[in-house]
Amino acid sequence: MGYFSKFLGISAALMLLSVSVVGAEERDPLKPRVPVDQMSDARANKNPVDATPENIAKGKALFEGKGTCFNCHGKNGDGQGEAGKILNPSPRNFTNCKFHKKRKDGELFWVIKNGSAGTGMVALVPAAITEQEAWTIINYERSFCKAE
Ligand code: HEC
Repeated sequence: MGYFSKFLGISAALMLLSVSVVGAEERDPLKPRVPVDQMSDARANKNPVDATPENIAKGKALFEGKGTCFNCHGKNGDGQGEAGKILNPSPRNFTNCKFHKKRKDGELFWVIKNGSAGTGMVALVPAAITEQEAWTIINYERSFCKAE
């Protein structure tokens, strides 16, 4: 194979890659992730950590540190972190207030604990963080919704 056709092959591969990256979207963020048979338990699971400014600051430190959440969800919570950009489906965009309205804390907790099947969101409790830390991060994730 000549250099030129190799070059064409590589360019075509790169084009395909960028199309799939640009084309990556969130899977419908308003559809529930918790299986139906576990939903009422998940929704009844209340956040034991108060959303005080101090706890929200702790949540931010965990989100950007030990939890590694920012790698995918982005420092500003929009789902465009360095690793998040190449994931399909895309990580959750936490600036979407409609998403927050739909979900109880217990449902978010369920996903952090069990992961979301078929996506880059793997189970992170207890692999990366404790239950208490997950609840603390949830309070911070809520704060990305600026309207209302
Ligand atoms: C490797 C990339 C990655 C990392 C790291 C990551 N997430 Fe995610 N996260 C995702 C993806 C992708 C989704 C979207 C899953 C879907 O659409 O079902 C998601 C979705 C979520 C959701 C939405 C669940 C719902 O009900 O829709 C929450 C909450 C969440 N992540 C919390 C976290 C927290 C907290 C951390 C850090 C402790 C974290 N994530 C780290 C990739 C990641």
